[in-house]
Amino acid sequence: MAQNLVTKCICHDRSFEEVKDYAEEHELCTVKELREHDFCSTSCGLCTPYIEIVLETDQTQFTPGEPYRRK
Ligand code: FES
Repeated sequence: MAQNLVTKCICHDRSFEEVKDYAEEHELCTVKELREHDFCSTSCGLCTPYIEIVLETDQTQFTPGEPYRRK
């Protein structure tokens, strides 16, 4: 059975693919800048460590908790 993957900011209903494209289009490099655009990561913040990796690597799918195992 396929494992559930983390692929979006749930609060804003924005996929990490959309986040990546929006950041590139608007030349945004940080979660703080995305928040200032009210695009993602302004509510519960659970997506924040994932979005940091999206911005660094363009990876858009993660196993649950993956950012915490990288540190
Ligand atoms: S999942 Fe992104 S702010 Fe809640």
